[in-house]
Amino acid sequence: MNLKGRNFLKLLDYSDEEIRYLLDLSHKFKKLKIKGKDHKYLKGKNIVLLFEKTSTRTRCAFEVAGYDLGMGVTYLEPGSSQMGKKESIEDTAKVLGRMYDGIEYRGFSQEIVETLGSNAGVPVWNGLTDEYHPTQMLADLMTIEENFGHLRGLKLVFCGDGRNNVANSLMVACSKMGINFTIASPKELFPNEELIKTCEKIAKKNYCTLTFTEDIMEATKDAHVIYTDVWVSMGESDDIWESRIKALKPYQVTEEVMKNANSKAIFLHCLPSFHDLKTTIGQEIYEKFGLKEMEVEDKVFTSEKSKVFDEAENRMHTIKAVMYATLGDKK
Ligand code: CP
Ligand code: NVA
Repeated sequence: MNLKGRNFLKLLDYSDEEIRYLLDLSHKFKKLKIKGKDHKYLKGKNIVLLFEKTSTRTRCAFEVAGYDLGMGVTYLEPGSSQMGKKESIEDTAKVLGRMYDGIEYRGFSQEIVETLGSNAGVPVWNGLTDEYHPTQMLADLMTIEENFGHLRGLKLVFCGDGRNNVANSLMVACSKMGINFTIASPKELFPNEELIKTCEKIAKKNYCTLTFTEDIMEATKDAHVIYTDVWVSMGESDDIWESRIKALKPYQVTEEVMKNANSKAIFLHCLPSFHDLKTTIGQEIYEKFGLKEMEVEDKVFTSEKSKVFDEAENRMHTIKAVMYATLGDKK
């Protein structure tokens, strides 16, 4: 498998075998890290992390993965580069491509990361756009494998905003890896028709199903993985909180939902999560709408079934695999 020079912009661009290869590589890197074995395979290379939205996991995962691989890392925080305001995306890509061996971008439309990718001349990695979050998917798949030993034939249910970047990406990831995928959300938040059609074709080839339903109990029955995400994503207007809360409260992941799932079911969330009142937004929502927890009950989030911190750690191992595969020599 040779992925050298490739961009990593969305999972639709990668074959099932290529995703399998990246997951295998991620498990290897995790073992090396746990054993404390040096793996500075990319010594002498440099990468830049271009962020137009905030981040904890993605930024830190790229930084630590970069350092572990022996690379130099530059972080450009939101609003700190010339991109967009004073310099076009194309020109920014060309400049960064002359200095760096790889570029990570987190920001708004998928079009921006695609433009960077076709102009940089070095690999560009998508660290989240409005449409997709592909590096998150590798960490999610890795965490599922750690718990079930395989992916094919499992049932994963996404409860919540069914057309956000994480839901879109999960639909692609599950279709490609043979996981039966269900979205439980109000109809108006189902993913867009075109993406559903594309994924249905992929799912058919991999003998798995895609289901969209407004009935959360029917959706989560016997599921192996219950997944949720915030009800309002970065870049969306604060004005939509009220309507989202109304639309998505029935899709909150509760203890009852977890009991309805398979007895070995796990809970995943890309994080950050509003599961208590220990955040400023969580407090504001409580004061305005009286809600103490949002997309997931604190009891579920903190339960044994919740694997969210393994999932967060796995961001680093999987991102390392992506950078190594696209930048490095075969090992
Ligand atoms: N899951 C995720 O992308 O987290 P950050 O927003 O903290 O990077
Ligand atoms: N859907 C969320 C994911 C955060 C990792 C957002 O875009 O804000």
